[in-house]
Order: sequence, then structure tokens, then C-alpha cells
Amino acid sequence: MSITFKLNGKSTTVDAPADMPLLWVLRDVLDLKGTKFGCGMAQCGACTVHIKGVATRSCVTPVAAVKGAEVTTIEGLSTDGTHPLQRAWEEVDVPQCGYCQAGQLMSAAALLKKTPNPTDADIDAAMNGNLCRCGTYLRIREAIHKAAAMAPTPATQAGRARTGASKR
Ligand code: FES
Ligand code: FES
Repeated sequence: MSITFKLNGKSTTVDAPADMPLLWVLRDVLDLKGTKFGCGMAQCGACTVHIKGVATRSCVTPVAAVKGAEVTTIEGLSTDGTHPLQRAWEEVDVPQCGYCQAGQLMSAAALLKKTPNPTDADIDAAMNGNLCRCGTYLRIREAIHKAAAMAPTPATQAGRARTGASKR
């Protein structure tokens, strides 16, 4: 089945079975390896992407469900890696093994778009489904607060405009 959707700002067409998980399409068909496979059952958050701006588990999303939709992966979070969350992640040195971090960043980005100045409780509620075997949760929370305090950079704004995300 031929499916067209907008991926990181660009119209993209793939030929894949309708029920193939979006995660497989991203990684194996489109060679975008930033989005990770963890559990395959919507239990860990490693595969989180944005679909129409909403943090979504791509491992349980059939590719047919994104026909015509806007999908953003970690590769499209900003044009040059300077999204406030990416800068804050570096400043706080959040990752340990790193495996869960793309999913963490995508969930955090969806949170900040909806709630620009989240409380600890907001963060915990939004990030609850993103597991980290290395236990980086406190650093993630600190980095989200740090990102919330940063002004958007021009590159970030461009990335947001490109991905249709609203300014905050
Ligand atoms: S791989 Fe999708 S939630 Fe774990
Ligand atoms: S940094 Fe290792 S699983 Fe999260």
C-alpha cells in the first residue's frame, strides 16, 4: 500500500503493508534510526514520535493511521539540534546509556508545547510512560525545567514553523 504523510516537514511516500507499525517504517524503510524499539507494546516510550503534535507510541501505530498526517521524529525536533530541550539535555548531561532518550525528548517536547512552564507534577504526569532503565528521571525533570526557562532560538523557531508546532 502506498502511504503519503508529512515527515519532519517533508512530504514522504512509503510502500508498506497498511498494518506495519510506524516504528518499523521509520527505522527499516526510511532508515531513520533515532526512534528506538524498546518493548513493542506501548509500555516503555522508547518509540515516541509526534503525530499531529501529540506524543504517540509508534510501535503500536499502524502506518496507515498516519496517512496525510504530520509526523515528527527526533531527527525533526529542530533543524540543528538546538531545541531548548536538546540544549538543556546537554547542559544537565541527562543521558546515561542513551537508549530511551529520543523518546524522552519527544514526550518532553509535546509537554512543553502544551504546558510551557510545567510543574514537577505536570512533568511526572507527562513523562510517566517513558521508562529509563538507567534511572535518569531526576535529570530529565531538571532539564525540562531548564528548557522551559530558555527563550527559543531562531533555528528552533524555524524547526517549529517547519513542523507546524506553535511557539511558546
Ligand atoms: S517500543 Fe513502543 S512503547 Fe516501547
Ligand atoms: S539512559 Fe539508559 S535507558 Fe535511559
